[in-house]
Amino acid sequence: MKNLKIGFIGGGNMGGAMIEALWRAQSNEAGTVRNSAEDERKFDGGSEAHGAENLAQTDKNASSHECEKKTKFEIIACARSKNEALRQRFGVKIAASKTDLAREADAVVLATKPASYEAILRLIAPELAGKILLLLAPGFDINRARQIVGEGVYIARAMPNIAASIGASTTALCFDAGFSESRKETVREIIAKIGKIYEIDEAGFAAFTGISGSLPAYACAFIEAAADAGVRGGLPRQLCYDAVCAAIEGTARLIQSGKHPAALKDEVCSPAGTTI
Ligand SMILES: NC(=O)c1ccc[n+]([C@@H]2O[C@H](COP(=O)([O-])OP(=O)(O)OC[C@H]3O[C@@H](n4cnc5c(N)ncnc54)[C@H](OP(=O)(O)O)[C@@H]3O)[C@@H](O)[C@H]2O)c1
Repeated sequence: MKNLKIGFIGGGNMGGAMIEALWRAQSNEAGTVRNSAEDERKFDGGSEAHGAENLAQTDKNASSHECEKKTKFEIIACARSKNEALRQRFGVKIAASKTDLAREADAVVLATKPASYEAILRLIAPELAGKILLLLAPGFDINRARQIVGEGVYIARAMPNIAASIGASTTALCFDAGFSESRKETVREIIAKIGKIYEIDEAGFAAFTGISGSLPAYACAFIEAAADAGVRGGLPRQLCYDAVCAAIEGTARLIQSGKHPAALKDEVCSPAGTTI
């Protein structure tokens, strides 16, 4: 069993989602996961300060070989107004400053908005030698980060989506040159906790942001509009959300099983039928 300290600078929508997924995965492995994902989404500042204990446990059922390969993550955060909620909810250790966090962590995840990337990277650069730096922002590439932090830092870039919190993100990932295979594996192990990984060239990141990072917003706009139509027709709202989501899931599964979207659409659109 390896130990890895992951430091999150920022713990908002995305940083919080990734922390939740890591916490959930480790709780799962320790056999202490709870059922209601939605309840757990709420940073309600309640009395659930048990995340740290969960992180400290090991998977008693795993074979010793699996155990050796697994990484035990310790999560550290520096996330301004979110610090207390993250500490209470997930047992995250809070660093006194971004510099302290970078000094202590083995891997630093930059989970703030891109506008603050440059200033934060300048601040923590002296602490990053030999460490992994994971960038999440669109429009801030590895080369730009490299110019600020210099050589000797292992920079990777990921583009997740908000379903990370339940381990259902579709995440693009790429590595700068110089990553050893074992360091790549470490990053893959982190990203696998938040869902499916697509290793692509960095040049594809802008397009991937459109088809995955941003996509939940478009999907939600569609789902809400479709459900509104159901409500207008007299159906209960909750039933509408559930039915629309199930219909989308079924359609997605058909496409994933090999159907062409255009052909599937035509199959639903009988001439002079209701759909067309
Ligand atoms: N949201 C998504 O669905 C999504 C999807 C893909 C990629 N991303 C990327 O993920 C990154 C984070 O986005 P987000 O949606 O999570 O943003 P967010 O909800 O606004 O969270 C940003 C977090 O960073 C903290 N923060 C901001 N400036 C800071 C500073 N100087 N020092 C320390 N902490 C600081 C914020 O603290 P306060 O709350 O106190 O301001 C907050 O915890 C962005 O680069 C975004 O493009 C997001």
